[in-house]
Amino acid sequence: MTVPTLALNDGNAVPWIGFGTGTALFYKDAREAVHVAIQNGFTHIDGAQVYTNEETLGTGVIQSGKPRSELFITTKLYKLQPGATPKSALQESLKRLKLDQVDLYLVHNPNNHVGQLKEVWKGMEECKKDGLTKSIGVSNFAVEHFKEIFEVASIPPSVNQLELHPYVWKALQPVLEIHKEHGIVTSSYGGLSPLFRGESGPLNEVVESIRERLQATRGQPVSDSQVLSKWLQQKGVLVITTSSKAERVREYIDTTNVPDLTAEELALVERAGSLLHQRFFQGNWLSE
Ligand SMILES: NC(=O)c1ccc[n+]([C@@H]2O[C@H](COP(=O)([O-])OP(=O)(O)OC[C@H]3O[C@@H](n4cnc5c(N)ncnc54)[C@H](OP(=O)(O)O)[C@@H]3O)[C@@H](O)[C@H]2O)c1
Repeated sequence: MTVPTLALNDGNAVPWIGFGTGTALFYKDAREAVHVAIQNGFTHIDGAQVYTNEETLGTGVIQSGKPRSELFITTKLYKLQPGATPKSALQESLKRLKLDQVDLYLVHNPNNHVGQLKEVWKGMEECKKDGLTKSIGVSNFAVEHFKEIFEVASIPPSVNQLELHPYVWKALQPVLEIHKEHGIVTSSYGGLSPLFRGESGPLNEVVESIRERLQATRGQPVSDSQVLSKWLQQKGVLVITTSSKAERVREYIDTTNVPDLTAEELALVERAGSLLHQRFFQGNWLSE
């Protein structure tokens, strides 16, 4: 099955769902997980320098036997060591990944570059111009951070990857407006948090009733995770998820085959989400 793609503002395209090598794989060998993800249909792998597993991510990609041209690989810039630049940091990543080029290079966290964001963004642009990455973007950026880089940017970010689920959707509206204005694709991490991190909340009942409706319509099992990921997909969001289990990897990929939520169901999820503001990951959301 071909994974549908989202168009980026620089003319490239990104598979709408990606397999993350952070969270449980942080500092761990990612080889087997990456191999399993690709074998089961993932074509987009999300890595980062701070995960300290780019080497094994790269080995997993090679072991999968999938041609490089059929894969989309992301890495993210961590703190800059003295004398380093986004470009030199990416060159080191590429060596570890055993690649000539990544598809997407993100500034992982603006808090790692306080007072240097403009310079860092110019360095990101250099990486794209020099062909070390096809696209560039950011992660965990709030309105304030965009304002800062837009003072110097000649290339806008293509993606902002941030904690995104219905419990933060309302609070994120100012940053989502910036995404819309500049054609920046919104990418989620922690999308399943309302279901599996923390207590049950106003979303649980709504998601369950939609799941039952979709399962009856489909005539095949539909999970709560698929309902939330489908909601994100229908909102135009690029979903980054992960799992340690092959069965769940298949379930994530199968989300593409789940019937759409109706407009009313989309609104129901949004409304239930707006009743509780809850973050599960750290973030510096100055506007909240
Ligand atoms: N840019 C950033 O700052 C940032 C921050 C955090 C994460 N990320 C990226 O986003 C990726 C996705 O991470 P995430 O944890 O946020 O993804 P997520 O989609 O919110 O959650 C995935 C987790 O949910 C669990 N899960 C799924 N279905 C479940 C079920 N039915 N019952 C119980 N648990 C279930 C999985 O556990 P199992 O392993 O048991 O399946 C997995 O650990 C990371 O790997 C990383 O690449 C980026």
